Amino acid sequence: MNLMPMWLSREEERILEGERGFAAQKAMEILVALGEIFSADRLIPVGSVQISGVSYKTIGKEGLEWLESLSDGKAVVPATLNPAGMDLERWKEMGIPEGFAEGQLRIVRAFQGMGIQPLCTCTPYLLGNLPRPGEHLAWSESSAVCFANSVLGAMTNREGGPSAIASALIGRTPRYGYHLPENRMPTLRVDAPLRLKESFEFSLLGYIIGREAKNRVPFIEGVRGHPISKDELKALSASLAASGSVALFHMEGITPEASKAKKSLKLLISRKEFETLRIESKDLEMAREKLSTASEDEVDLIAFGCPHASLEEVGRIARLLKGRRLRRGVRLWVFTSLGIRRAAERCGYVAPIEAAGGRVYADTCMVVAPLEEMGFQAVAVNSAKAAVYLSASNKPRVFLAPTAKCISLAISKMGSEG
Ligand code: F3S
Repeated sequence: MNLMPMWLSREEERILEGERGFAAQKAMEILVALGEIFSADRLIPVGSVQISGVSYKTIGKEGLEWLESLSDGKAVVPATLNPAGMDLERWKEMGIPEGFAEGQLRIVRAFQGMGIQPLCTCTPYLLGNLPRPGEHLAWSESSAVCFANSVLGAMTNREGGPSAIASALIGRTPRYGYHLPENRMPTLRVDAPLRLKESFEFSLLGYIIGREAKNRVPFIEGVRGHPISKDELKALSASLAASGSVALFHMEGITPEASKAKKSLKLLISRKEFETLRIESKDLEMAREKLSTASEDEVDLIAFGCPHASLEEVGRIARLLKGRRLRRGVRLWVFTSLGIRRAAERCGYVAPIEAAGGRVYADTCMVVAPLEEMGFQAVAVNSAKAAVYLSASNKPRVFLAPTAKCISLAISKMGSEG
């Protein structure tokens, strides 16, 4: 294969020759290779970077050693991390094995050494890292990429961990894919005349669309109900990206590029160059059943926060648990970012959850924490993305249900057993 060389400025060439040290040189090599594979014409500046591949469970010893080899690198744009394999402060309480914790803490230190903020979350947009419409980014967490492109109107490809680190050290990314307006137009129409009530159902809808769409750009029509919330769009983004590899969707009347996308859709429909996917409410229940691999009686962990819970979601769980006690043998964990946990503490949401026997953990999630090593058999979740990832390994098995149903599994029939 003959790759076209990408144009580089003199400064970029000097970085490639090693003038800014080993890590910057390696980073530039990654960006140049990526740009040439995807026929990018040049590098463009990015406003922020979000890096996946942070959990010791995911990258292991080899990944850790590679990160440590980049110790002379320095991030030149704001950069944050995806969830790690444990709460960085409360890992002992979670029951994380010592050896795992040691590896995980070294990973976070290696990132910090490169000036990357130890904010481990897949929802940086809930923590003030809110990109502007049209801003170029290099984000790698798939749910955040889909949310940033679709709901915020920012422009990012779905980066891998190494290319996101490279962008953090160089401040640029190759110009291709979703950085180009012509690649942001719809390529699949979704007719979903549904009245959806909560994030759980949006998550199932995203799972069904993602499965069919693969990496196409869906234009979603027909979804009705109350005003659609950011948490529902967060759930939709996550599952679209989990069952397929959707990095951008449009939703009529909701997302910022939808009216422009609709014009392009009309043109393609008039030329009969369009496929339509129709989704009915019975499809949602079928998807839920397909993703549930455990029965409710087997559940020994209830885990919320995929993607990381918002303040409103922590508040809802707190209201449902207030004055209740968890059943013996069952644990309930809510995963969020450190910033949201602090805010939730101040709002009085953490106390009722923890008084009931649950925990609100930061920096990690049910997918990247070593649940299997910790002996869990079946986990109840309210997120199709979590179900997809957990059921891929089948350990622990998964029970997928709405938030209130998951909570009913956690509390004793009398609501007071210790
Ligand atoms: Fe976030 Fe973990 Fe789900 S990274 S989107 S909570 S799998």
